[in-house]
Amino acid sequence: MRGDVNRPRHIAIIMDGNGRWAKKRGLPRTAGHAVGAETFRTIATHCKNIGIEYLTVFAFSTENWKRSDEEVATIMTLLEKYLLEAIDSMAENKIQLRFFGDLTPLSAKLRTLCQETQGISETYESELQVNICLNYGGRDEILNAVRACASDCLEGKIKPEEIDHECFTKHLYSADIPDPDLVIRPSGEVRVSNFLLWQSAYAEYFYTDTLWPDFTASELNHIINEFSKRQRRFGGI
Ligand code: IPE
Ligand code: IPE
Ligand code: MG
Repeated sequence: MRGDVNRPRHIAIIMDGNGRWAKKRGLPRTAGHAVGAETFRTIATHCKNIGIEYLTVFAFSTENWKRSDEEVATIMTLLEKYLLEAIDSMAENKIQLRFFGDLTPLSAKLRTLCQETQGISETYESELQVNICLNYGGRDEILNAVRACASDCLEGKIKPEEIDHECFTKHLYSADIPDPDLVIRPSGEVRVSNFLLWQSAYAEYFYTDTLWPDFTASELNHIINEFSKRQRRFGGI
């Protein structure tokens, strides 16, 4: 499967629609996040099984702090639970976890778990790398890279005119991995919401009305099949 030009190496997903899924069932929004976390587990395993090399998921944005304290706390607790379970099975599952985003505002407990998970991941060979975007914003990521390039200039490591794509992207969270081939947004919203602004310059976008907790491996297979029929030109003819 790998190496086929029509198969994505890197899939990115905006895991959206948890709240509406719960509301439709008369449940609190937090119940939607709990089911959404299970969907994430299923989809990550499926991606590994079908030979996807990179999966990047949007779990919590720099703007999601605007939500109620209760909702934010539930999302953070679910993440802790997920990571505690993942730590025991990552090597066996051959899934490597990384985090994209500024982890500083997270609780010390969650931040330590993220660091621990990432550290363990680096010690074994994996078949799939999963990047969890946590307190992530595309604009923040770009600004951080700009600041890092500016510091390099001030320190005399590089001249402003030498800043090119290669040295700029080294300062992004996604340094060293290929850009996403496709970006999927469930829940019927047709917007980017500050996700992978730099990296998705030539990604193929797919929107589906399915709410994230209802998203299935077979829907992902269908999207991958549609992706394989698209003609990517990257500005060429
Ligand atoms: C996505 O689902 C999860 C996060 C943003 C944390 P939402 O919580 O945005 O669900 P809707 O969009 O309100 O249905
Ligand atoms: C994007 O969804 C962020 C995540 C899924 C984590 P939002 O629900 O926050 O996006 P908007 O507010 O609908 O644009
Ligand atoms: Mg939403």
